[in-house]
Amino acid sequence: FYVDWDLMTAEKAGFDHFMLKEIHEQPKAYRDTIGSRIDGSGERVVLGEVKLTPQQIWDIHNIHIVACGTAYHAGLVGKSVIEQLARIPVETDVASEYRYRAPIITPNTLVIVVSQSGETADTLAALREAKRCGARVIAITNVVGSSVSREADDVIVTWAGPEIAVASTKAYTSQLIAFYLLGLHLAQTLGTQDATYIRETIEALQKLPEQVEQILLHAEDIKQYAEQIAEHDDLFFIGRGSDYAVAQEGSLKLKEISYIHSEAYAAGELKHGTLALIEEGIPVIALATQEHLLEKTVSNIKEVKARGAQVFAIALEGNHEIAKSVDLVFEIPRTVALLAPALVVIPLQLLAYYASLARGNDVDKPRNLAKSVTVE
Ligand code: AGP
Repeated sequence: FYVDWDLMTAEKAGFDHFMLKEIHEQPKAYRDTIGSRIDGSGERVVLGEVKLTPQQIWDIHNIHIVACGTAYHAGLVGKSVIEQLARIPVETDVASEYRYRAPIITPNTLVIVVSQSGETADTLAALREAKRCGARVIAITNVVGSSVSREADDVIVTWAGPEIAVASTKAYTSQLIAFYLLGLHLAQTLGTQDATYIRETIEALQKLPEQVEQILLHAEDIKQYAEQIAEHDDLFFIGRGSDYAVAQEGSLKLKEISYIHSEAYAAGELKHGTLALIEEGIPVIALATQEHLLEKTVSNIKEVKARGAQVFAIALEGNHEIAKSVDLVFEIPRTVALLAPALVVIPLQLLAYYASLARGNDVDKPRNLAKSVTVE
């Protein structure tokens, strides 16, 4: 009895690649990661796995977030989330730098390591260095029982499920969810945000999975744009605030699997050098979800447009100001500014995927890269 059974095809559940399957699994990953971490009234986050007592939270002077690659980019968003919600100073560092730069860690420093696999050599070494200096360590990881989860004091598991594609998608967004939950947990304890703000943020958090589903319905629009940029060799991502943090992730994703060179810039930094590279026809992807910074972002968009750039913007729906200033807009559903990274990254993941496909690359196994970097 013989069954012609292609396990890999079966596991892709009808999708052409693991990456596309994993992009589409994000609504579930968000729901599972939020899970029962919100109480029945919808007014409070319950993060039982973080064993820090209220007094220990009060005693935190500063936070270091340490990670590599995409997990580092989640940490950049995590910095703005925690600083905004809990008003504790946060530094985010690349683990390979952190471990050798003699970081100033005291027993009042909380170190948060972020790792999908929980096995990345540099992240693990940074965790050990932090512990050696007496810091308490929280791990945000997708793998229960991984080295990082075993050695950390507290573990926040991201319930994204196995991620097979080398390019990380659902692990990144689940890490963002973990940071939102942790930020709210710290804010509740410290009283840095009032109950109404916390309830409204929780409500907005619970809407995210459905909003991701809405974005995924428009994947075809991103595919068409991706086919255009696939013919270019260089492009730029710009944004301000957390849009800049997500721009860095969008740029890494694109480089990693499409092999198109790209750079992410804080929009206001362009005129300090990079503007010299903007020439006729170059694609610029502008993230414009932070509406309190909109006027400034629009003025940066005008700077690149005046030099001939073709600007594709991603903005919250109904933003007419942006639509007037760019060549093409992709709209995402409205959410609060703090949570926008969890939506705006989705079109960027699709963009990298379709650009890689258009170039005929091996999407799930890009050249020179491994899923988990367990050596230095
Ligand atoms: C992301 O697309 C990458 N392949 C890579 O940057 C990855 O995020 C990094 O190696 C960290 O891995 P980890 O989360 O398993 O520690």
